[in-house]
Amino acid sequence: MRIDLAEPALLDRLSARVQAARCLLREIASDFSPAGFASSLGAEDMVLTDLIVGDRLPIEIFSLDTGRLPPETYDLIAEVRKHYGLALRLYYPRHDLLEAWTHEHGINAFYESVELRKGCCFVRKVEPLQRALTGRKAWVTGMRAQQAATRDGLPLRSVDTANGGLQKFNPLAEWSEHEVWAYLKLNKVPYNALHDCFYPSIGCAPCTRPVTPGEDVRAGRWWWENPQSRECGLHVRRP
Ligand code: ADX
Ligand code: SF4
Repeated sequence: MRIDLAEPALLDRLSARVQAARCLLREIASDFSPAGFASSLGAEDMVLTDLIVGDRLPIEIFSLDTGRLPPETYDLIAEVRKHYGLALRLYYPRHDLLEAWTHEHGINAFYESVELRKGCCFVRKVEPLQRALTGRKAWVTGMRAQQAATRDGLPLRSVDTANGGLQKFNPLAEWSEHEVWAYLKLNKVPYNALHDCFYPSIGCAPCTRPVTPGEDVRAGRWWWENPQSRECGLHVRRP
């Protein structure tokens, strides 16, 4: 993505966005402790990591290692440890559930139907997330409203009824992709090498592919499915 880091309007907007995000993160740390931040190591998550570490906020940063992440994501986990001195807390799928699921359905069964795909996401991501959220008062995500039709109108904060009623915060809900990249470049934040190879959104390796110019940022995620079903179950929105 081409960004003019000297453009005054962009810098002004970014500075206001950063101030608002830092303010919200401080409020989460002070009023909703213990809070956790779920990082997929994507571009947005690296912005939040940089802000949380930079302000030394007591918000635990964790990641769900599905076992099927691309090598570039594992490289970034190692880089984060070096760059920030930060050991991400990693949650893994329960081996008994995963062994039973792959035995019954097959190692790549997620390509066969939405139901099987959601089953794999449940075992590899949703169940580990439920454990990661146990005992917390709030969690933070890197989601943005502009990422997909399924994220239209994404609020900055909500009550996460799908996860027992804890608070859920999306401090970057209103940020544009441009602003995310301006932040990363200006602050020399490490990021996933796949972003430079036309992967704006990165999940598990077998379920993510590069996008072509003009395509939606999440077009490479579960590309064989209808856009309305392309959420993994981590972010269920109930009225
Ligand atoms: S998702 O459908 O995979 O959830 P996306 O990759 O856009 O979509 O991620 C949205 C947010 O969900 C991330 O910013 C992060 O907060 C959380 N998230 C997604 N995948 C993971 C993961 N593997 N570990 C921790 N958090 C994750
Ligand atoms: Fe399974 Fe794909 Fe979901 Fe990863 S993204 S948990 S491999 S279905």
